[in-house]
Amino acid sequence: RLYPITMGLSKQLLPIYDKPMIYYPISVLMLGGIREIAIITTPQDQDQFRRTLGDGSQWGLSLTYIPQPSPDGLAQAYILARDFLNGAPSAMVLGDNIFFGHGLPEILAEADAQTHGGTVFGYRVADPERYGVVDFAPDGSVRALIEKPTHPPSPFAVTGLYFLDGTAPDRAATVTPSARGELEITSLLESYLHDGTLRVAKMGRGFAWLDTGTHASLLDAGNFVRTLEQRQGMQTGSPDEIAYAQGWISAEDLAARASLFGKNEYGTYLYSLLTAITADHSSDRR
Ligand code: G1P
Repeated sequence: RLYPITMGLSKQLLPIYDKPMIYYPISVLMLGGIREIAIITTPQDQDQFRRTLGDGSQWGLSLTYIPQPSPDGLAQAYILARDFLNGAPSAMVLGDNIFFGHGLPEILAEADAQTHGGTVFGYRVADPERYGVVDFAPDGSVRALIEKPTHPPSPFAVTGLYFLDGTAPDRAATVTPSARGELEITSLLESYLHDGTLRVAKMGRGFAWLDTGTHASLLDAGNFVRTLEQRQGMQTGSPDEIAYAQGWISAEDLAARASLFGKNEYGTYLYSLLTAITADHSSDRR
């Protein structure tokens, strides 16, 4: 008998330790108070995402699915999402980026409060050449952003979390393809930089920004989550927990979700949360 040796599952649906990778970036948007979310995927992957995430109502969200017919770059997301955005400012997070840190909701709220221009986050990494990199002038202002530089001008990578105002789709429409044939997010950000309206906030060493672009970093991310969750007895990246803490779903809704997972660890955790939060409304669980 033959077994398939590849699963053909989109990478973002693979688990990081105990839950699909996509749960982590969705959780970040939720912590930022965002409830209307468009999931942009290849047309082939869309059904898998729909099966995994549904219409979002289980978490008090409204999910829209937008196909990206070919992988022509991150800036294209804004062109594809033009109708969805309808002139509004937005946050975009990449499906393979994981953020963790005390104070995350606060920095998200701060970025979200800017109605003009854009906010991105600079994070110090050991291998900046793999990312978009910030070039700082001696006075600390941002001089340029460079996509995957051979000689990085600083160790600060631009994370895959972008808060841009309502002009993003128009600006994205003027971006021309890079040498690798993509509409680079960095080119879109440069348009804001050129106008003097791009804010680069540093995400300090108290935060973890992990990506899953290599085999090693994928494994590292899984181990990181496992270490944290085992030590604290709390989940990271649980949309169910965040939805409940935000008041977007009721205790009954959470109990129903918990029962869906039966006696597995995630279900047990959601049940425990229910009793813990019922006993202590001031809890800062996220
Ligand atoms: C993309 C962006 C890059 C950014 C990175 C974050 O890189 O182009 O600027 O730093 O995401 O994960 P890519 O995923 O295309 O290699």
